[in-house]
Amino acid sequence: MRLIIVSNRLPVVLTVGERGMEIREAVGGLATAVKSFIKATENGKALGFSEVVWAGWSGIKAEQESEDLKSRLREMGLLPVSLTAEEVNFFYEGFCNSTLWPLFHGFTVYTVFESKYWEAYVKVNQKYAETVASVANTGDFVWIHDYHLMLMPAMLREMSPDVSIGFFLHIPFPPAEMYQLMPPPWRTALLDGVLASDLVGFHIHEYVNNFVRAVSKFLGYRTEAGVIYAGRRKVHVGAFPIGIDFDFFYNSSLDPEVAGQIEELRQKLRGLKIIFSIDRLDYTKGVINRVHAWERFLKEHPQWRGKASFILIVVPSRIGVPQYDAMKREIEREVGRINGELGDVNWTPIVYISRFIPTPTLLALYNIADVALITPLRDGMNLVSKEYVATKRDCKGVLILSETAGASHELLEALIVNPNDESGVVEAIAKALTMEPEEQCRRIKAMQEKLRQQNVVKWAVDFLHSLMLAYRENTESFTT
Ligand code: G6P
Repeated sequence: MRLIIVSNRLPVVLTVGERGMEIREAVGGLATAVKSFIKATENGKALGFSEVVWAGWSGIKAEQESEDLKSRLREMGLLPVSLTAEEVNFFYEGFCNSTLWPLFHGFTVYTVFESKYWEAYVKVNQKYAETVASVANTGDFVWIHDYHLMLMPAMLREMSPDVSIGFFLHIPFPPAEMYQLMPPPWRTALLDGVLASDLVGFHIHEYVNNFVRAVSKFLGYRTEAGVIYAGRRKVHVGAFPIGIDFDFFYNSSLDPEVAGQIEELRQKLRGLKIIFSIDRLDYTKGVINRVHAWERFLKEHPQWRGKASFILIVVPSRIGVPQYDAMKREIEREVGRINGELGDVNWTPIVYISRFIPTPTLLALYNIADVALITPLRDGMNLVSKEYVATKRDCKGVLILSETAGASHELLEALIVNPNDESGVVEAIAKALTMEPEEQCRRIKAMQEKLRQQNVVKWAVDFLHSLMLAYRENTESFTT
């Protein structure tokens, strides 16, 4: 029995740069979580799987891929799916990131409905299904991830009826009224596509409810507590909040390399308070709102000038989708303006870093940051908030978190803000910077307890266990 993970991207990303082909770790919640779960379960062995195979795209266009490269990926247990330049354009940048991503996050003005994008989406989902069907055997578990592959469960079900299929959405599922903006043939095909799975999972109940409502409104299927009756099939749906590898973060300061970097940072910062955030470059993350809130904080609380800096890390992402390029320019302009207006020779209000950060450096930054300012406009879960809290072994630090991030449903002891309420965010920063150590510790401890329990292995085990039960129920009802 094998576990076949399918996601648009493989956990490694290839790029062709000036120094030739480079390989780096994929960023984002999906890759981070699934990688940690595979590592923590010794390649699925601890859960009784003979092996884990991961199918996905390598990040480069088919035209640049060589046979040698593909066989190197296969040696790593990865099953590459090739995307041509046109597919990258119409499927990945098009339907995935200019239609589904903005619509599902509530950015309707950024949402583009183009038939050529839809056609590419159908074609590429078919390609993924064929790739997986060519290796899947009876009894294998196929776990399909995220919005790129919503049609794939139905396509795979046709080709390989004897595998169990689970689908997990890593982003929000929008309210039915927002989903309704999608042209009717597409919106029903996407729902039917997902419903060919035995189990469909979301991060929080709100997204489960939105999905169930969309199914009954647009498909008319009968639904009842956690089950959708899709023809002869019973599809289970539920909330499975994704977690992190808690111990990895909690023990990070014990690692000599991380400890060295913490020491170095502390010496350089000499008592300066640090507000910290890290995100993929994405308009959903609310970076500009955050930068403006920090500017207003410094203007309204001038006593903090020279005493606190904001380290803002934005990891480049989806370069090629117009809104992402525009957003990068806007951040650069605003950070430059604020530093120019408020900074001086000895103090930079915003330390802006726009590149990939190696893990030990990220861990050191989590460790030294006094406040994490995590204020996405809309986020399926947000693992950065969880990682920051878990890292605080010394029980010092304050998390400010948007109510519009899935994580706010669990991290109740954070300072919860609305990212559009600038004065509320300013107030939260002031409160965080002056919070008594006892209160910091009480909040951190309560959140750590939840994160320790609801860790990434539990997330995957809960999902796979429910998938096994759901699959069994469906096969039994066919045989009786
Ligand atoms: C989010 C999505 C993932 C995606 C990641 C990075 O976390 O849920 O599916 O892989 O962003 O985005 P990218 O477009 O670079 O894969």
